[in-house]
Amino acid sequence: MNDKYALVTGATAGIGLEIAKELAKLGNNIILTARREDRLRDISILLKEEFDIQCDYVVADLAEVSAPEKIYNFCRDSNYTVEILINNAGYSINKKFHETEEDEEEKFLRVLGIAVVALTKKFIPSMLAQKHGKIMMVSSLASFAPPSSGWGALYGPVKTFVNRFGDAININYRSHGITATNVCPGFTVTEFHSASGMQDAMDKVPAFMKKDSKTVAIGAVQALMNGKSVWVPGLLNKALAFLCNILPTTIVIKMSSRLAGGRYE
Ligand SMILES: NC(=O)c1ccc[n+]([C@@H]2O[C@H](COP(=O)([O-])OP(=O)(O)OC[C@H]3O[C@@H](n4cnc5c(N)ncnc54)[C@H](OP(=O)(O)O)[C@@H]3O)[C@@H](O)[C@H]2O)c1
Repeated sequence: MNDKYALVTGATAGIGLEIAKELAKLGNNIILTARREDRLRDISILLKEEFDIQCDYVVADLAEVSAPEKIYNFCRDSNYTVEILINNAGYSINKKFHETEEDEEEKFLRVLGIAVVALTKKFIPSMLAQKHGKIMMVSSLASFAPPSSGWGALYGPVKTFVNRFGDAININYRSHGITATNVCPGFTVTEFHSASGMQDAMDKVPAFMKKDSKTVAIGAVQALMNGKSVWVPGLLNKALAFLCNILPTTIVIKMSSRLAGGRYE
């Protein structure tokens, strides 16, 4: 039996769920993780039936310090060798910085930042031993833009951090057969905005700026398999990423405010 697995965080909804399906379609065995056990169970059954692969799941809240170790121990004790790691789980804090409780940013940085580093650290030694591994950081177009105010002061900065971390993995380990792919989606229709209390703002975003999670996942998995360092879905998002990199911050803020009201007010 094939003991090689892809581990997908945030696999119960949106982009993570679609990435799990795409990887399963390519014949990869899958380990799903997130907090909602009922969904993990149902998705696990669905993937096994639909794609004839092995699939298992581990319930974990990545806001908890012990979560990466729990996930790693589950894989080790089950003899699952993780050769693909998808760091996808995420959400946003829909409050101004001065309005949050003290531990909100800590949990947020843990889920979107520290857990990404911790999981990568735990699984990279076996990838090194096999001289093969693929790691995806599901980042955001926001990683290229100036940090917003209305949608959480730290969302953009932590995604920029994740991109730089992915770059560090490529610089240090590409020659050892391990690649990192920073996937940077723009607005994507998932549960992200309702889960983060931002559905109203998402509803105001013009339809031409939105992508569906399946389209994003197909491109993301293709980029991962090709060992691309960065992938931005769609021509418009690619153009926006380019403009964010070359234009002065003040102009990007004005441009973003027109396209997605509320970001910088
Ligand atoms: N949607 C967009 O417009 C957009 C744009 C750019 C980037 N992204 C990024 O894409 C990634 C996926 O987001 P999505 O849009 O697919 O959102 P989503 O539909 O809300 O899915 C988020 C996933 O993350 C999991 N998750 C959230 N908090 C968690 C925690 N504390 N511990 C473990 N798992 C947790 C959720 O599972 P449980 O609730 O079951 O734990 C769910 O499976 C995120 O990193 C997000 O920042 C999204």
